[in-house]
Amino acid sequence: MPSIGNISFENPLLLGPMAGVTDSAFRTICRQEGAAGSYTEMVSAKALLYQDKKSRQLLFISPEEHPCGVQIFGSEPEVCAQAAQLALEISGADFVDINMGCPMPKITGNGEGSALMRNISQAEKLIRAVRQAVQVPLTVKFRKGYEADEDTCVEFGRMAQACGVDAVCVHGRTRQQMYAGKSDLDAVLRVKEALSIPVIASGDMFTPEDAQRALQGGADFVMVARGAQGDPQVFRRMKRALEGLPPEKEPTLSEKIALMDKHIALMCQRKGESRAMSEARKHILWYLKGVRGAKPFKLEFSHVNTLAEFRALCQKMEQQLG
Ligand SMILES: Cc1cc2nc3c(=O)[nH]c(=O)nc-3n(C[C@H](O)[C@H](O)[C@H](O)COP(=O)(O)O)c2cc1C
Repeated sequence: MPSIGNISFENPLLLGPMAGVTDSAFRTICRQEGAAGSYTEMVSAKALLYQDKKSRQLLFISPEEHPCGVQIFGSEPEVCAQAAQLALEISGADFVDINMGCPMPKITGNGEGSALMRNISQAEKLIRAVRQAVQVPLTVKFRKGYEADEDTCVEFGRMAQACGVDAVCVHGRTRQQMYAGKSDLDAVLRVKEALSIPVIASGDMFTPEDAQRALQGGADFVMVARGAQGDPQVFRRMKRALEGLPPEKEPTLSEKIALMDKHIALMCQRKGESRAMSEARKHILWYLKGVRGAKPFKLEFSHVNTLAEFRALCQKMEQQLG
């Protein structure tokens, strides 16, 4: 069984952190479908120390999600160290991950996220401060590099390892690429070759073949992010392939609807119906991607306000398309 520090995972498939997507309900569903572990959405270290209510809400982890990591981002070592302790206290997370890969200008503009790849001495101070502050396993997530032509991930990974982290996650795109273009698996695997700690491969993990390629290349874990949007069953397909089992039949429309219903109902239970339903719309549209004949229903789904409305519309769609 693959492990990070003292945490063993059932398989090498992790659900990656996605702000605005991987809340507790979604993580729970992905875990049930075969993900061995997950992360919270990223939480600002500074906001957490200022007692920001929204940041604290992001830290809710339900008992069935473990192992789950809490992901923090920031630029100041002391703030991040204190925030990591507080985040662990609030969430009961199993490990801490530091985000050094976020490419969003509002984050990098503050010297946070992937901006730390450009300021390796600050990144080192920050990792060391968090390492000293927490006893649980610590991981760092970063990218191939910063600018388009930069490939600094091996150097960055070596620095992180020397600071005592238990694993690193590398997204094979540069900050400049954001989420476009192809992710460079070779760069991720070069980090693996250079380090002795586990390496989690991130970037373009959509199919069982993608996962197998990364694992056969030496990665210890595979992180699935966009591939799980509207398709938590991606984990089931990947897991079967890794176990050498033949692929299952494509899920029917009724099965798809049943999974979506379970997910949206859990969101309502955990966040309250009003907030959950406004956040659920994007998930519903992802679930319906590629469903033949669903187009006319998408507009209606994008206006649903209650769980009852959602369920009535699902029933109508199933009757017409099923
Ligand atoms: C909507 C969205 C939100 C994301 N939020 C985070 C985040 O909060 N923390 C993080 O480390 N990465 C975040 N990521 C990056 C993913 O975890 C992952 O590394 C990246 O999408 C590459 O994987 P993929 O090509 O399989 O999607 C986010 C990605 C997306 C698409």
